[in-house]
Amino acid sequence: MAEKLSYPLIALNFKVYLEAIGGNAVRLSKVAEEVSREYDVCIVVAPPQLDLAQVAGEVRIPVFSQHVDPYKPGSYTGSIIAEDVKAAGAIGSIVNHSERRLRLADIGAVLERLRENGLIALLCTDTVETTKAGAALSPDILAIEPPELIGTGIPVSKAKPEVVTAAVEAVKEINPGVHVLCGAGISTGDDVARAIELGTEGVLLASAYVKARDPKKLLSEMAEAALKAWDKR
Ligand code: G3P
Repeated sequence: MAEKLSYPLIALNFKVYLEAIGGNAVRLSKVAEEVSREYDVCIVVAPPQLDLAQVAGEVRIPVFSQHVDPYKPGSYTGSIIAEDVKAAGAIGSIVNHSERRLRLADIGAVLERLRENGLIALLCTDTVETTKAGAALSPDILAIEPPELIGTGIPVSKAKPEVVTAAVEAVKEINPGVHVLCGAGISTGDDVARAIELGTEGVLLASAYVKARDPKKLLSEMAEAALKAWDKR
Protein backbone atom coordinates (compact mmCIF):
# COMPACT_ATOMS: atom_id res chain seq x y z
CA MET A 1 0.00 0.00 0.00
CA ALA A 2 2.71 2.45 1.03
CA GLU A 3 4.45 1.42 -2.20
CA LYS A 4 2.14 3.90 -3.89
CA LEU A 5 4.59 6.44 -2.49
CA SER A 6 8.33 6.84 -2.95
CA TYR A 7 11.01 8.72 -1.07
CA PRO A 8 12.16 11.43 -0.65
CA LEU A 9 8.59 12.60 -0.20
CA ILE A 10 7.19 16.11 -0.09
CA ALA A 11 3.74 16.25 1.49
CA LEU A 12 1.71 19.42 1.04
CA ASN A 13 -1.07 20.09 3.53
CA PHE A 14 -3.33 22.83 2.14
CA LYS A 15 -5.20 23.18 5.48
CA VAL A 16 -8.09 25.57 4.74
CA TYR A 17 -6.11 28.59 3.67
CA LEU A 18 -8.16 30.87 1.46
CA GLU A 19 -5.42 30.53 -1.15
CA ALA A 20 -6.04 26.77 -1.26
CA ILE A 21 -9.80 26.23 -1.31
CA GLY A 22 -12.09 25.44 -4.25
CA GLY A 23 -10.47 26.16 -7.63
CA ASN A 24 -7.22 27.05 -5.91
CA ALA A 25 -7.00 23.54 -4.45
CA VAL A 26 -7.08 22.15 -7.97
CA ARG A 27 -4.63 24.77 -9.28
CA LEU A 28 -2.08 24.15 -6.50
CA SER A 29 -2.46 20.38 -6.90
CA LYS A 30 -1.81 20.62 -10.64
CA VAL A 31 1.34 22.64 -9.97
CA ALA A 32 2.44 19.89 -7.56
CA GLU A 33 1.70 17.28 -10.23
CA GLU A 34 3.83 19.15 -12.79
CA VAL A 35 6.78 19.44 -10.40
CA SER A 36 6.44 15.80 -9.38
CA ARG A 37 6.59 14.75 -13.01
CA GLU A 38 9.43 17.11 -13.98
CA TYR A 39 11.68 16.07 -11.08
CA ASP A 40 10.42 12.52 -10.60
CA VAL A 41 9.84 13.21 -6.92
CA CYS A 42 6.87 11.94 -4.97
CA ILE A 43 4.62 14.83 -3.94
CA VAL A 44 1.45 14.24 -1.90
CA VAL A 45 -1.32 16.83 -1.69
CA ALA A 46 -3.86 17.06 1.14
CA PRO A 47 -6.52 19.52 -0.08
CA PRO A 48 -9.40 20.84 2.02
CA GLN A 49 -11.95 18.08 2.67
CA LEU A 50 -14.63 19.58 0.47
CA ASP A 51 -12.23 19.67 -2.49
CA LEU A 52 -10.83 16.17 -2.00
CA ALA A 53 -12.88 14.35 -4.65
CA GLN A 54 -12.41 17.03 -7.27
CA VAL A 55 -8.66 17.18 -6.75
CA ALA A 56 -8.34 13.39 -6.77
CA GLY A 57 -10.28 13.31 -10.04
CA GLU A 58 -8.02 15.86 -11.71
CA VAL A 59 -4.46 14.95 -10.73
CA ARG A 60 -2.39 11.80 -10.94
CA ILE A 61 -0.31 12.29 -7.81
CA PRO A 62 -1.20 10.83 -4.39
CA VAL A 63 -4.04 12.70 -2.69
CA PHE A 64 -4.56 12.47 1.08
CA SER A 65 -7.37 13.50 3.36
CA GLN A 66 -6.42 15.96 6.11
CA HIS A 67 -8.36 14.03 8.74
CA VAL A 68 -10.47 10.92 9.30
CA ASP A 69 -12.84 10.24 12.18
CA PRO A 70 -12.67 6.91 14.03
CA TYR A 71 -16.21 5.90 13.02
CA LYS A 72 -17.58 3.14 10.88
CA PRO A 73 -20.26 4.11 8.33
CA GLY A 74 -23.51 5.05 10.04
CA SER A 75 -25.22 7.81 11.98
CA TYR A 76 -22.34 10.23 12.56
CA THR A 77 -23.51 13.53 11.10
CA GLY A 78 -20.77 15.71 9.66
CA SER A 79 -18.07 13.08 10.06
CA ILE A 80 -15.32 12.03 7.67
CA ILE A 81 -15.07 8.26 7.38
CA ALA A 82 -12.35 6.18 5.77
CA GLU A 83 -14.76 4.59 3.28
CA ASP A 84 -15.72 8.01 1.92
CA VAL A 85 -12.11 9.20 1.77
CA LYS A 86 -11.40 6.16 -0.38
CA ALA A 87 -14.51 6.72 -2.51
CA ALA A 88 -13.35 10.30 -3.10
CA GLY A 89 -10.17 8.92 -4.66
CA ALA A 90 -7.68 9.64 -1.87
CA ILE A 91 -5.10 6.98 -1.01
CA GLY A 92 -4.31 8.03 2.54
CA SER A 93 -4.87 10.46 5.34
CA ILE A 94 -3.11 12.70 7.78
CA VAL A 95 -3.94 11.58 11.31
CA ASN A 96 -3.74 13.58 14.53
CA HIS A 97 -2.47 16.83 13.04
CA SER A 98 -1.72 19.40 15.75
CA GLU A 99 -4.68 21.40 14.48
CA ARG A 100 -6.95 18.31 14.58
CA ARG A 101 -5.73 16.35 17.58
CA LEU A 102 -7.20 13.00 18.55
CA ARG A 103 -7.26 11.06 21.82
CA LEU A 104 -4.83 8.14 21.94
CA ALA A 105 -7.65 5.58 21.76
CA ASP A 106 -9.07 7.34 18.71
CA ILE A 107 -5.68 7.39 16.98
CA GLY A 108 -5.58 3.61 17.27
CA ALA A 109 -9.13 3.37 15.92
CA VAL A 110 -8.41 5.69 12.99
CA LEU A 111 -5.29 3.74 12.03
CA GLU A 112 -7.38 0.58 12.10
CA ARG A 113 -10.12 2.17 9.97
CA LEU A 114 -7.50 3.29 7.43
CA ARG A 115 -5.95 -0.19 7.33
CA GLU A 116 -9.35 -1.79 6.80
CA ASN A 117 -9.80 0.44 3.78
CA GLY A 118 -6.31 0.02 2.34
CA LEU A 119 -5.46 3.66 3.02
CA ILE A 120 -2.04 5.03 4.01
CA ALA A 121 -1.69 6.60 7.46
CA LEU A 122 0.48 9.69 7.94
CA LEU A 123 0.50 10.15 11.69
CA CYS A 124 1.58 13.52 13.12
CA THR A 125 3.33 13.80 16.47
CA ASP A 126 4.51 16.85 18.35
CA THR A 127 7.36 15.67 20.58
CA VAL A 128 9.95 12.91 20.72
CA GLU A 129 7.87 11.20 23.42
CA THR A 130 4.67 11.15 21.38
CA THR A 131 6.72 10.03 18.39
CA LYS A 132 7.77 6.97 20.39
CA ALA A 133 4.14 6.20 21.22
CA GLY A 134 3.12 6.87 17.61
CA ALA A 135 5.80 4.57 16.18
CA ALA A 136 4.51 1.72 18.31
CA LEU A 137 1.13 2.05 16.57
CA SER A 138 2.79 1.23 13.21
CA PRO A 139 1.52 4.02 10.96
CA ASP A 140 2.96 3.96 7.44
CA ILE A 141 4.50 7.40 7.90
CA LEU A 142 5.14 9.55 10.91
CA ALA A 143 5.68 13.33 10.76
CA ILE A 144 7.13 15.15 13.74
CA GLU A 145 5.93 18.76 13.91
CA PRO A 146 6.69 20.94 16.93
CA PRO A 147 3.46 22.97 17.09
CA GLU A 148 5.14 26.19 18.18
CA LEU A 149 6.92 26.38 14.80
CA ILE A 150 3.90 25.64 12.62
CA GLY A 151 3.09 28.54 10.32
CA THR A 152 6.01 30.62 11.58
CA GLY A 153 8.39 30.21 8.65
CA ILE A 154 11.03 29.10 11.16
CA PRO A 155 12.05 25.64 9.93
CA VAL A 156 12.10 22.76 12.38
CA SER A 157 15.07 21.33 10.51
CA LYS A 158 17.15 24.36 11.46
CA ALA A 159 15.54 25.59 14.69
CA LYS A 160 15.15 22.18 16.35
CA PRO A 161 17.46 19.72 14.57
CA GLU A 162 17.94 17.79 17.80
CA VAL A 163 14.21 17.06 17.98
CA VAL A 164 14.22 15.76 14.42
CA THR A 165 17.24 13.51 14.92
CA ALA A 166 15.89 12.20 18.22
CA ALA A 167 12.57 11.38 16.54
CA VAL A 168 14.35 9.62 13.68
CA GLU A 169 16.45 7.60 16.13
CA ALA A 170 13.44 6.69 18.27
CA VAL A 171 11.47 5.41 15.29
CA LYS A 172 14.46 3.43 14.03
CA GLU A 173 14.69 1.72 17.37
CA ILE A 174 10.98 1.10 17.97
CA ASN A 175 9.63 0.42 14.50
CA PRO A 176 12.15 0.79 11.67
CA GLY A 177 9.52 0.12 9.00
CA VAL A 178 7.88 3.49 9.68
CA HIS A 179 8.91 6.33 7.35
CA VAL A 180 9.77 9.59 9.11
CA LEU A 181 9.09 13.12 7.88
CA CYS A 182 9.38 16.41 9.70
CA GLY A 183 7.37 19.56 9.38
CA ALA A 184 6.72 23.06 10.73
CA GLY A 185 8.13 26.19 9.18
CA ILE A 186 9.68 24.41 6.18
CA SER A 187 10.00 27.26 3.69
CA THR A 188 12.94 26.74 1.30
CA GLY A 189 14.81 24.07 -0.62
CA ASP A 190 17.57 24.38 1.93
CA ASP A 191 15.14 23.59 4.78
CA VAL A 192 14.10 20.44 2.92
CA ALA A 193 17.72 19.41 2.31
CA ARG A 194 18.52 19.93 5.98
CA ALA A 195 15.53 17.77 7.00
CA ILE A 196 16.84 14.92 4.85
CA GLU A 197 20.40 15.37 6.11
CA LEU A 198 19.00 14.89 9.62
CA GLY A 199 17.78 11.44 8.61
CA THR A 200 14.18 12.05 7.61
CA GLU A 201 12.69 10.80 4.35
CA GLY A 202 11.03 14.07 3.50
CA VAL A 203 8.88 16.91 4.75
CA LEU A 204 5.31 17.94 5.48
CA LEU A 205 4.59 21.61 4.84
CA ALA A 206 1.74 24.03 4.32
CA SER A 207 1.96 27.82 4.45
CA ALA A 208 5.17 28.36 2.48
CA TYR A 209 3.70 26.52 -0.52
CA VAL A 210 0.11 27.66 -0.26
CA LYS A 211 1.07 31.30 0.16
CA ALA A 212 4.05 31.36 -2.20
CA ARG A 213 4.05 34.09 -4.84
CA ASP A 214 5.38 31.49 -7.28
CA PRO A 215 4.44 28.04 -5.94
CA LYS A 216 5.97 26.22 -8.91
CA LYS A 217 9.35 27.87 -8.43
CA LEU A 218 9.36 27.14 -4.69
CA LEU A 219 8.28 23.52 -5.09
CA SER A 220 10.81 22.96 -7.88
CA GLU A 221 13.56 24.25 -5.60
CA MET A 222 12.37 21.94 -2.86
CA ALA A 223 12.20 18.92 -5.16
CA GLU A 224 15.69 19.58 -6.48
CA ALA A 225 17.11 20.07 -2.99
CA ALA A 226 15.39 16.92 -1.75
CA LEU A 227 16.88 14.82 -4.54
CA LYS A 228 20.38 16.22 -4.04
CA ALA A 229 20.29 15.62 -0.28
CA TRP A 230 18.82 12.14 -0.84
CA ASP A 231 21.66 11.18 -3.19
CA LYS A 232 24.24 12.18 -0.59
CA ARG A 233 22.75 9.98 2.16
O1 G3P B 1 0.91 19.99 8.18
C1 G3P B 1 1.97 20.85 7.94
C2 G3P B 1 2.06 21.91 8.91
O2 G3P B 1 1.45 21.81 10.11
C3 G3P B 1 3.24 22.76 8.87
O3 G3P B 1 2.72 24.00 8.55
O4 G3P B 1 2.73 26.20 7.59
O5 G3P B 1 4.54 25.53 9.14
O6 G3P B 1 4.44 24.53 6.87
P1 G3P B 1 3.67 25.13 8.01
